[in-house]
Amino acid sequence: MTFITTVLVFTRVNNLTTPKAKDIKRILLFIMGNMNRHIFNIQFEKNKRNFECSKNDSILEGGLRHGLAMRYECSNGTCGACKAKLIKGSVKKSKHHDYALSKDELDDNTFLMCCYSPKSDIEIDVDLIGDVKSIPLQKIQVKIKDIHFIGDDMAIVSVRTPRSKTLQFMAGQDVELSFKGMVSRYPIASCPCHAIGLEFHIRSLKEDEFSQAIFSKSIKTKSKLDLNGPKGVFVLKELSTKSMVFIAWDSGFAPIRSLVEHEFSLEMPNPVYFYWAYPATDSIPYFDNYAQSWSAVMDEYHYQTIACEFDRSSHNDCHKVAKQIYDSLNHQIINQSEVYICTPAEVLIYLGEMLLENGLDESQLIASPI
Ligand code: FES
Repeated sequence: MTFITTVLVFTRVNNLTTPKAKDIKRILLFIMGNMNRHIFNIQFEKNKRNFECSKNDSILEGGLRHGLAMRYECSNGTCGACKAKLIKGSVKKSKHHDYALSKDELDDNTFLMCCYSPKSDIEIDVDLIGDVKSIPLQKIQVKIKDIHFIGDDMAIVSVRTPRSKTLQFMAGQDVELSFKGMVSRYPIASCPCHAIGLEFHIRSLKEDEFSQAIFSKSIKTKSKLDLNGPKGVFVLKELSTKSMVFIAWDSGFAPIRSLVEHEFSLEMPNPVYFYWAYPATDSIPYFDNYAQSWSAVMDEYHYQTIACEFDRSSHNDCHKVAKQIYDSLNHQIINQSEVYICTPAEVLIYLGEMLLENGLDESQLIASPI
């Protein structure tokens, strides 16, 4: 469509005679809209949700990027887990692997989301993962891409899954990592929208052999680990309209980062309050800048650090730590919010009790010990 034709179509559609200055912006937006049909709207028939997908991405990639809990396994057309039915619009094949579908399914407009991209706005019928029980336990061999040490006792470990076997999980869940018989369970610190790259925040602890192998460099970049998971039910209440309060102790930041970034990708408008408690002997929490940077992408984001009396090298009074955290919270906000807590188990028990005694309903409390 030429510029002149586009202007004529626009003026006719909008009952305009001669476009005036005030209409110029609308005309330009209209033109750009037509030139920009690289992005299409994908509407889910059942779930009444939608997302935008580039014509260059598979519909599966587009959905995952927007934080949607899509069912998938292989991402290359062999397993059939990502089946969907096309209700309206058209799609184009980007990978030639349709043999996971029967002839009846093909005749019925069923297609594989990992093998097709949108050619127009489309409507599809697909089941999203409803809860953690619908995600199968997976065993995947992953490779360490990078280990970044912060100080003497914190390691940020990035791993990659094979492209053909990414991990299906919900934000906030954890996995077991094993290496030569050493096994430990860690929360995933990254969002499911980047399923090929997973991040873990691992504190050096004497009783954790796996962490010791990282700090002694027996586990290093390019080491292969066995991953088993996902596990746990510390996941986001995606349909809640309440504010969200996140309370982390030290590396309890990891699953909370996954939840908050999942919340961004879902474009949830809920206000977020993040309290990060840490030992006062550290000058700041280990990813303080990162937690501060969320204010640039969220309209209503409040971040507060809580320095607690705590000595990593000896036994601590967990009741006292829980009370310090409790005293720093805004209780008016807390009682009207979904409250996600990730702290050591003893702190969690005391803190949970205090919050419930102060009027928080049990259904608003989502907790996971680290
Ligand atoms: S994810 Fe396996 S066929 Fe699409």
